[in-house]
Amino acid sequence: MIKILTIIGARPQIIKAAAISRAISKEFSGKIKEFIVHTGQHYDDNMSNVFFEELGIPKPSYNLNIGSGLHGEQTARMIEGIEELLLKEKPDYLLLYGDTNSTLSGAIAASKLNIHIVHVEAGLRSYNRKMPEEINRIVCDHLSSLLFSPTKSGFQNLVNEGFNSANKAPFSPDNSGVFHCGDIMYDNSLHFVDLASKKSNILVENGLATSEYVLATIHRDHNTDIPENLTSIFDALITISKQLKVVLPIHPRTEKMLQSSEHKKLLRKINESKNLFLIPPVSFLDMIQLEKNSSLIITDSGGVQKESYFFNKPCIVLRPETEWIEILETGKAKLVSADYKKILTAFDNLINMEQSEFPKIFGDGKAAEFICETLIGNS
Ligand code: UD1
Ligand code: UDP
Repeated sequence: MIKILTIIGARPQIIKAAAISRAISKEFSGKIKEFIVHTGQHYDDNMSNVFFEELGIPKPSYNLNIGSGLHGEQTARMIEGIEELLLKEKPDYLLLYGDTNSTLSGAIAASKLNIHIVHVEAGLRSYNRKMPEEINRIVCDHLSSLLFSPTKSGFQNLVNEGFNSANKAPFSPDNSGVFHCGDIMYDNSLHFVDLASKKSNILVENGLATSEYVLATIHRDHNTDIPENLTSIFDALITISKQLKVVLPIHPRTEKMLQSSEHKKLLRKINESKNLFLIPPVSFLDMIQLEKNSSLIITDSGGVQKESYFFNKPCIVLRPETEWIEILETGKAKLVSADYKKILTAFDNLINMEQSEFPKIFGDGKAAEFICETLIGNS
């Protein structure tokens, strides 16, 4: 039996964990035993608890309750907590998702104890080291024994950085295995889409009709913490809302910034905009329902960029660059940074875009099974 300790902490990691946990319980429970550790990086009910029951994710065996903090402070406390658990549980693998501070902490703790790291969502690069996530993912990739990339470009980035795709099992940090396997979030979107239609009342609750609203999310530090950027984005959303309703489930980071004294004027403008609806963060089933029925999505989120594509929606990306370049290459998404004019131009172009095919670029919906099988093959 292979023993895996899985680290989750931020919202997207909790959702990602659903795919692998589901694959283990359905197909691999005789071969893999998983223990989930929640760092507590996200802790509000609607950023964490809401997902476990709704998505059938096993309750974490441990919660480190680290909470928020400066990068160094938060990461250091997580490393300490994870190290203690690794010493106690002695897993065969530490499984890490994505690029958050929870990911980085797990990578540092496990690598010093010679515990093999499995990195799911490996190889993605923005080539912008001002992003904390870029630092986290580079460090994690280079400490991992098994690296699973959701995209071809992610896999190629790893090869370009010296990873040898011809390496053979058994994999280790000095003989790492790199794989292109598709995206576990695509697995999840396929799995939960029907349940979302059945269970979610989010459209009715918010008076939204299919294809008659824009969905938006904002949470990147570059957008929330630079006042001109936050103002420019909201000004653009206010302008768009005069044409089409805009619904925005607001991330706590963005909410906190809008409530700060320097954004008093902006907040007043938002509150006066009749067709711009700021709502609390929603559950994943509600989010899928909002995405699937929107006419267009505006976001700086990695996950939401992809889901926009999964549900055949054009997407305006509020970033200067993206890791998900395959989506850009299809023309279904446009990069606009936090630039008022670019946001509006992209909106005009994409909202009037002719319907056409969204080619399959995120795998076959079985990335989680591939990851589990590869782990079993390596043991
Ligand atoms: C983190 C990740 C980011 C990911 C995002 C997903 C890092 C460096 N960043 O960003 O990659 O895209 O999660 O959402 O790991 N807060 C609350 N309640 C919560 C959680 C956060 O109020 O449950 C507030 C706190 O004021 C906190 C701020 O949000 O200081 C930022 O939270 P943090 O986890 O540090 O970073 P995110 O911006 O959420
Ligand atoms: N999401 C959600 N409720 C919300 C906003 C987002 O369930 O109110 C989901 C979204 O569908 C996606 C994930 O959270 O699966 C993305 O997380 P986030 O945008 O916080 O982080 P990122 O993907 O940018 O790291």
